[in-house]
Amino acid sequence: MLVASGFFHVSTPGTRSSAAMDAAPLAAGSDPVWVVAAIVAERVVLPTGETLPRADFFEAVWELLDGTGLAGIHEGTIDVGEAHAAGLVESPLVIDAAAAPERDWVADRALVDAEFWFGDEAGARGAAARLVRCVGCAVAEIRRVEPRDWVAAAHAAHAPVVIPGFGTVLAPWHTERSGGEGTRLVVDPGTGFGTGSHPTTRLCLEAIAALPPGEAPARTVLDVGAGSGILGIAAALRGAVSVTAVEIDVRVHDAIRRNAALNDVGDRLTVATSLDDVTAAHDLVMANIVGPVLVAMARPLVARGRPGGTIVLGGLRDLDLAEVRAVYRSAGAEEVASRESEGWSCLTFRIAAGPPAAESCRSSASVSALATRSTATSGTAASANR
Ligand SMILES: C[S@@+](CC[C@H](N)C(=O)[O-])C[C@H]1O[C@@H](n2cnc3c(N)ncnc32)[C@H](O)[C@@H]1O
Repeated sequence: MLVASGFFHVSTPGTRSSAAMDAAPLAAGSDPVWVVAAIVAERVVLPTGETLPRADFFEAVWELLDGTGLAGIHEGTIDVGEAHAAGLVESPLVIDAAAAPERDWVADRALVDAEFWFGDEAGARGAAARLVRCVGCAVAEIRRVEPRDWVAAAHAAHAPVVIPGFGTVLAPWHTERSGGEGTRLVVDPGTGFGTGSHPTTRLCLEAIAALPPGEAPARTVLDVGAGSGILGIAAALRGAVSVTAVEIDVRVHDAIRRNAALNDVGDRLTVATSLDDVTAAHDLVMANIVGPVLVAMARPLVARGRPGGTIVLGGLRDLDLAEVRAVYRSAGAEEVASRESEGWSCLTFRIAAGPPAAESCRSSASVSALATRSTATSGTAASANR
């Protein structure tokens, strides 16, 4: 959920990707590249009067620009805020950052800002002229792009994140000296939501750190909506002996395992796809998803905690709070703490000694429907993991 940055398509000769690829390799060498920026409509009008769907145009343009030195095409970018404003997604929250070709927001746009990449200026200028003359593309600019160290730039974008009371979330390339006191948790920000930079994750880590001494470490932990696995790994680093990470998006399962291994807790963490596969009563249940999903999951989540155990819920907006509080109370969980940051809230509950059991482990149709809806707001975040 949450933060995505650019969602874009890049194609290279003979291929047209519907999945996102990183444009960086085109500009990673030591020579500058030249970029022709052009606006491309959903259908492109040819000189004959015929029209071509944009996707077909991006394939045909390799032939049209043959001999110009065309090296790659950036077929357009959209970020999650724009996608939401354009009505392409229900929510500005993006739940995962894994590849999702079926959620093609770029293709759904009436106009896209495309970029055509060249090795030299003459090629770029020749191609721009052909794009205007032959297909009536609106060329916005021709610009020179200086070579850039994309690896260094990506590393710079992921500074160590200090979580008060908890410790520091680091990327694998940070050194021993990075970060401060407390738990050191390493997450590779490649795949799966949860690098520690988003308030929802940070609040959950603070909530874990704030568990009263009698409850820390929680020995058995359930992390529902695990993303990168960050919360479950945090619990393991603070002493949990068994962690189950439930993540509906199977594309990030390997990343969860890799992150667990990076922290030397791989032998204590198991990955599952559905809450239905989890039966044991846990000391600590954590779920950082979104309000409506957490409302629908109230009874299944409470049932997977032990009487007297703790539930930490993240990903809540103000408008979710009243309903979340009400359904968890009626499911047998009493609120014991709340945290807020940047418009996000995280609630901690204590499970009563005898929570209502009748519907306890039922995974209702509404849960599945909401879960599907919540992941449907995901997209391919090329650089956007958090
Ligand atoms: C906001 S991310 C949280 C990631 C991580 N736990 C953190 O705190 O940063 C929510 C995650 O929940 C997953 N998710 C959404 N609905 C789910 C469901 N019903 N069951 C399991 N995972 C779900 C999404 O795929 C996504 O990875």
